[in-house]
Amino acid sequence: MTATNSGAPARFPGVGAPARPGWRTRRRHHAEHRADQHAAALTAERLIWAWRQACEGAGASRTVDTPSGPTVSTPAVASVTLGPPTVLIVRLLPGQLPEDLRKAAPRLAPHLGAVALRVEPRGLGWARVELLDRDPLADPYRIRHHHAGPVLLGLTESGPLWVDPPDLPHMICQGQTRSGKSTWTYGLLAQLAHRRTVRIAGVDASGLTLRPFAVADRVVSGLADLDRVEHVLAALVDDMDTRLTAMPVDRDVLPVDDHHPLILVVLEEWPGILRALDTADTRQGKRVRALVARLLAESHKVGMRVLLLAQRAEATIVGAAERAQCAGRLSFRVDSPEAVKLLHAGAEDLAPDHAGADPGIALYTWPGLPVGRLRAPYLSYAEYARAVAP
Ligand SMILES: Nc1ncnc2c1ncn2[C@@H]1O[C@H](COP(=O)(O)OP(=O)(O)OP(=O)(O)O)[C@@H](O)[C@H]1O
Ligand SMILES: [Mg+2]
Repeated sequence: MTATNSGAPARFPGVGAPARPGWRTRRRHHAEHRADQHAAALTAERLIWAWRQACEGAGASRTVDTPSGPTVSTPAVASVTLGPPTVLIVRLLPGQLPEDLRKAAPRLAPHLGAVALRVEPRGLGWARVELLDRDPLADPYRIRHHHAGPVLLGLTESGPLWVDPPDLPHMICQGQTRSGKSTWTYGLLAQLAHRRTVRIAGVDASGLTLRPFAVADRVVSGLADLDRVEHVLAALVDDMDTRLTAMPVDRDVLPVDDHHPLILVVLEEWPGILRALDTADTRQGKRVRALVARLLAESHKVGMRVLLLAQRAEATIVGAAERAQCAGRLSFRVDSPEAVKLLHAGAEDLAPDHAGADPGIALYTWPGLPVGRLRAPYLSYAEYARAVAP
């Protein structure tokens, strides 16, 4: 060890015990710490101010008459964590729900300098608001095949959306060409294909989606034989009638089991199917529409579900009564807010941005859930064909 003149050991960088900072350094650190605290307090204050203003602008506030005149009240910020992630804990106004803030989130986020907000309930009357600096659904994600238990419908802003197959509702899925409808369907079918208690059926104008199932007797892949389209749908209605007749007297819903598997009737490119039928023979088109209307109205209670895919779920394609039977609704990119409105009540704030959504991003309306955004799992056609192969 080198010694100095004073006899104290010399300190070389990186050698020996760390030096205790001198009082000057300590004072500087202390001042820096106080400056950081001050800056943080300012940032937090600015954020609270911005939150108040944003709530006023986005309709998440309320004007209350007081003796001194009308006063605007906004959900009060109880705490700010500057993070990352930056999180606000807010007290909801009387009668307000976290859902109300979630709806307003697309308007609130830009004013808070965020790309999006994640709003979650926190106890009764409170919400946790996380400021996101990137879209949580930005990255594609791949599906792992699950051959038992619930199926994964996609990743929502608050996590994966899993559904037990018997809990699937009738579904309708719309979106412009190349928006991701078929890919989402591949994901669903890949997960359902090898289950003992599920059968895949339906008609597919594209000739691709149901091709791996084409050997099944309730499947039509491609539109080369239009009579077969009617024949298969009539056979599915017969299956439904048989099940309805076989329903035990003490039940109003037939449980899904080995004897009565869930039958998922996929109608891929439904407008194309209708167009082909109408062109060949309008009476056949009408008969096929009536068959599908019966499936939608009566088959749910006997373990059958319809999944209808179209570029736009307009009235000429699916009437209001049939649309109302489809409780599960997905809209991939569509051309206008009006198209969103066809399927999603209460999605006004999400609709404008959705016109430019990436492939695989959908708005969803699902039983028991507020309307939201979802990223469909991705798998290529080759992966799908392999997953479904016997
Ligand atoms: N979930 C996804 N994640 C990433 N990319 C996707 C996803 N879904 C679709 N895509 C991309 O978009 C392309 C088109 O998707 P898809 O064929 O499913 O669209 P579509 O809505 O069925 O179109 P069409 O109406 O023309 O049949 C895919 O080939 C893929 O490149
Ligand atoms: Mg398609």
